[in-house]
Order: sequence, then C-alpha cells, then structure tokens
Amino acid sequence: MKPDLVIRSANLPTGEEGMDIVVADGLIQVIGPNIETEGEEEIDASGCLVSPPFVDCHFHMDATLSLGLPRLNRSGTLLEGIALWGELKPLLTHEAVIDRALTYCDMAIAQGIQAIRSHVDICDDRLLGVEALLDVKARIAPWLDLQLVAFPQDGLYRSANARANLVRALDLGVDVVGGIPHFERTMAEGARSVTDLCTLAADRGLMVDMHCDESDDPMSRHIETLAFECQRLGLQGRVAGSHLTSMHSMDNYYVSKLIPLIAEAGVAAIANPLINICIQGRQDTYPKRRGHTRIEEMKAAGITVAFGQDCVMDPWYSLGSGDMLDVAHMAVHVAQRTSLDAMRDCFLSVTRFPAEVMGLSSYGLRPGAAAHLVILDAADPVEAIRLRAARLKVLRAGRVVAESPPRRSRLHIDGRPRETAFRRPAHASTGASSPWKRG
Ligand code: FE2
Repeated sequence: MKPDLVIRSANLPTGEEGMDIVVADGLIQVIGPNIETEGEEEIDASGCLVSPPFVDCHFHMDATLSLGLPRLNRSGTLLEGIALWGELKPLLTHEAVIDRALTYCDMAIAQGIQAIRSHVDICDDRLLGVEALLDVKARIAPWLDLQLVAFPQDGLYRSANARANLVRALDLGVDVVGGIPHFERTMAEGARSVTDLCTLAADRGLMVDMHCDESDDPMSRHIETLAFECQRLGLQGRVAGSHLTSMHSMDNYYVSKLIPLIAEAGVAAIANPLINICIQGRQDTYPKRRGHTRIEEMKAAGITVAFGQDCVMDPWYSLGSGDMLDVAHMAVHVAQRTSLDAMRDCFLSVTRFPAEVMGLSSYGLRPGAAAHLVILDAADPVEAIRLRAARLKVLRAGRVVAESPPRRSRLHIDGRPRETAFRRPAHASTGASSPWKRG
C-alpha cells in the first residue's frame, strides 16, 4: 500500500541533506536518503530545511492582540503593563477573549507554531480568561497543542482571592501551576509562594512554570528557592523558571553556586528575549543592562534553555507576529550567541527544547513521531534565523494546513538579474567540508 505522503530532498536541522520523509496515518514512518516508494502525495522540498514545528513555551494568550485597550503603555515597563492589564480585565468578555485568541492561533499556525504554553491570569474572580482559553484549547486542538498555566498575575498572596482562584482553575482543567514570587509584597512572601505552589503541584502530579525573578534586582533570588523545592519534592524534569532576568545582575560568585543547583534540580529555564530586552533596565541610565538571563552559562551547565515569545500586541509589547524565528533572532543578538553552533542551538530553543519543557511526547523528526512539520525557505537553521525564513508549507499530521510564498524581490536594474532571493551565495554552501554542517 502506498504511504500517504513522501517529502523529497529535505535538509534536516541535524545537517543531513537530501533526505526523504515517509508519512502514513499522520505519523513519520521512515527518514532516509533515496527511499524507493511512491506516496499518494509527493512534496519536493528541493533542499529546503524541514523541521518539526516551532513551539512557544511562554505566552499570554488572554492578553494577546489587545494593544491599545483601554490605552497604551507609556513607560514601557513591566509594572505599567501589569497596571494596564488590571484596567482591561474588568472590561473583558468571554467572546472577545476567544476571538482574539483564535485570531492569534491562526497567525501562529501560519508561522509554523504547533504548540503553545500560555499563562492565563486567575486573579479575576470570574475566571473569565480561564474558561475562554479552555474553550480555545478544545477548539484549536486538531491544529495546535495549547497547554495552560494558572498564573496569579497580581500575586498569589498580594491579590485577595488568587490562591483560591488558582485551585479553582486547576480543578477546571488548567494544566500547569504558575507563580510570580517577585511580585509578592516581600521577598519572604515570594519564597513562601514558591514553596506553597510547588507543594500544590506535587500533590496534584502537575508541572510548574513560574515567572521568576523578572526584575533588575540582583537580590531577587526566587530561582534558588524554586530549584530547592523542585529537588525536595521530587519534581525534577517538571519545573521551569521563566524569565530569570535578575540573574543578569547577580554577583558572579553567587551565580557560580546557583547554576549548578538549578542543573542538579533539573529545572529548565525559559528566556523571553523580545520582551525582556524591552522592559528590563528601564530605570538604568548608562551603562544600561540588557535584562537578559545567562543563557550561555546555563547551557554550559547542562540546563535546558528554551525561548518563549511572551507577548504579541498587548499591554507589555506592541510588536510581534507569532514568529519564533524572530524570538531566536533576538536571542542571538542580546545573548551574543553568534557562533554557528550557538545559532543552531538557538533554533533548538524554539523547537526541540520547548517541546521537552512542555512534555510533548509525540514531537520530533523520527519514525513514530507525529508528522507535524514545517518546510522553510532556508537551507539550514542558521539561514532560517537570519532570514526569519518563509514557512513554505506547514503540515499537521501529514496534511498541509498553511502555505506561504517564498520571499523574492523583483529588481528593475539594468545589467542585474531581474529577481533576487535572499538565500546565501553558493560559496557559503553546506558542502561536506562546510563548517555549517554539524560534525
Ligand atoms: Fe510572561
């Protein structure tokens, strides 16, 4: 019997070239060169990169596309963003949240994202956002895996009913326990919230993903408590610390002790480069801090580091287009991860690593994995990041769900070619001896 689909001449993120991918019943069957079988459908990838889909493991879908409602963030700070969101919350309706979320999902799917971990604010006693996003999760499930985090935006203890609301949200089916220790009233209250929330997660067998130390305060050290509680409660591999920006200002001696503790506890780190380069360091004059966590040092210690988009057109960030290559591109710059190996690793931070953080068991480019794939107008991950390459085809379970044209410009210059693409020149190709190729 013919397989449903064969993708020909694919370049893979590992550096292998000219590979065929055979798909049947929505799953990848075989990957290899020159496979002698004919598919019901054939796609010629023509040396383009074929990757598992992008995964965004840190997002706020209840706030997305609300830019300007009810006003704009004038200072650009995290704190004004939180205040502005507080003004918008009473005005939200179930339908409006669903409508914005689904519009964003369309955008994300077109950009090759097929899994999102979204925090959802539980401080509104109506739990309107929770109910709306649970609805969205069910409706979008055939095309996108949406995982929800119960997030006490205004503080677990600082906001009157947040703890009870968080438990209600988990009872309704929210997947992950969230937190925001740096926003509690005192450092001690923040630490207590970490212990409380990790215990809650352990009791319920859930994962934890906390906004942690998202500040410029070198003394904000909730990641230390998070790692400790993860270890104490046996939550290794199920806990992530999001943002971790205070780490950029911490004393180096202290960090030399902290990072091995995070690694030992199996806590993953989620950096959000687009947002934190904008909202951190706002009280600085010069030199001005980048407000970005220590990716390179954490990588060296074996910690899983994934990237998230965090915000698209909301109270905290006016830009964004659901493009995880934009996120990786910013990470390359703010973290100065410009070696070829580091750039390839940044591609994994928007694909494989966030899939690991979310625990997506059917994810990957291997026989038996779901045939969720993206064909990019690029030869390899480095070129994909450089160009924020067009997503030529997005496949979900072997079926094309989105297509985009390649980026081309028509020129009107005498003596020059009529059309230019933006792909790298031939002398920089990925030949066998090329340094672009993983050894
Ligand atoms: Fe966030």
